[in-house]
Amino acid sequence: MLQRTAVRDLLAAESPRTALDVRGWVRTRRDAKEFSFIELNDGSCLKSLQCVVAADCVGFDAIKSATTGASVQIEGELVPSAGKGQRWELKASRLQIIGACPDDFPLQKKRHSDEYLRTIAHLRSRTNKFGAMARIRSRLAWKIHDFFQARGFHYIHTPIITGSDCEGAGDMFRVTTLPLDRVPVRDGKVDFDEDFFGKEAHLTVSGQLAVETYCLGLGKVYTFGPTFRAENSNTSRHMAEFWMIEPEIAFAELADDMQLAEDMVKALLDFLCTDCVDDLEVFTHFVDPTLRDRLDAVRQANFARVSYTDAIAILQGAGEPFEYAPVWGADLQSEHERYLTEKHFNGPVFVHDWPKDIKAFYMRLNDDGRTVAAMDLLIPKVGELVGGSQREERLDALRQRISGMGLNLDDYWWYLETRKFGTAPHAGFGLGFERFLMFATGVANIRDVIPFPRTPKHLEF
Ligand code: 4AD
Repeated sequence: MLQRTAVRDLLAAESPRTALDVRGWVRTRRDAKEFSFIELNDGSCLKSLQCVVAADCVGFDAIKSATTGASVQIEGELVPSAGKGQRWELKASRLQIIGACPDDFPLQKKRHSDEYLRTIAHLRSRTNKFGAMARIRSRLAWKIHDFFQARGFHYIHTPIITGSDCEGAGDMFRVTTLPLDRVPVRDGKVDFDEDFFGKEAHLTVSGQLAVETYCLGLGKVYTFGPTFRAENSNTSRHMAEFWMIEPEIAFAELADDMQLAEDMVKALLDFLCTDCVDDLEVFTHFVDPTLRDRLDAVRQANFARVSYTDAIAILQGAGEPFEYAPVWGADLQSEHERYLTEKHFNGPVFVHDWPKDIKAFYMRLNDDGRTVAAMDLLIPKVGELVGGSQREERLDALRQRISGMGLNLDDYWWYLETRKFGTAPHAGFGLGFERFLMFATGVANIRDVIPFPRTPKHLEF
């Protein structure tokens, strides 16, 4: 039996080959007098293989059914191409239509708007742009594991369903099997004793607290998985479901954390620019002509570091007509982030040591008593890419922070025990995979860097 060969391998062939079986989807068909030309794409790479089907090819009578979008099997041999723009073509000896494609296939046209393609997310992998995005996502996901594994980090599978609604990163989606039309009630409250887990459960907003427990045992760990936030922010940078990479390092401080984030971003960009050349070219060509220059600039940059206090002073002295005036103690608005990274520093910048009142309880309190050892990495076009901190490892200080924020100490008994039993300084961060992909490809809307975006009032299957 013939083995199916990937188009990608054929386009890279060194010499002609025979007895081939290629299968994929017809991108276009052009009929000349004595031949038909099929551009066949099998998803293995961006480029399609030109297949020449002549009248003596077995199955030629079905050629009219080889319409755009149809799936076909073509057997034949790889020969040097007489045509321009490609080295090889497939001379077909046998053609078989596997799945016909009627002419109401929505991707007949060459170009469609991103907005339209979002309404057919189940078909958009058949376009050059979304095929390229999917391959880049896949390669980068692999590289993320490679980056950490090569440095001795262990991959920890943190839970998706969590019983601690205390990660403090935003609104959570509830997980329940209680019947919504007759919710059990006791003493005027929902009786979660009756629920699947016998207590309230949610989808995780971050694997951090769980991964911290493994950090204080395995030293260098990371988690990389989906996270969920039920915040109703309909922006081009937020989704209800996104993927996050969260490393955590023991015996480390904030400076080590920032260095790790910088090394990781650069390693991923280096890999992207050498491994994903063809796919990246789609984005340089159709999305952002300056993309390669921007990526190269970041690969070569020394990421700036500025304290939150200094950043506020820079913003206050900028003479910019900000919609929100920058004031010490308030979070940075995206207009502030963009000013810092795109104008003032003109490159990636870590903003560190934030006011404690606007940051989570687990961040380490600085000696000044009013800031915590937190950092955000801001990058041009995207704004915040990374959020992280040195963690509060001192048991008493952590207890005070939890209580001081009006949280219930009992809910954190297991987290506190990691500080009681052999605590150690440690730090970590979260990098939003989709934010990274936006930067890496220049794509401006986060809905177009993930196969199936989940946003308020939008859920395709
Ligand atoms: O700053 P965040 O909320 O940090 C945490 O969740 C920490 N627990 C991470 C840690 O220290 N282990 O989120 C981290 C990153 C952001 O910088 C951003 O890139 C991305 O996650 N992010 C989102 N991406 C898409 N849609 C959303 N709604 C996002 N919210 C955060």
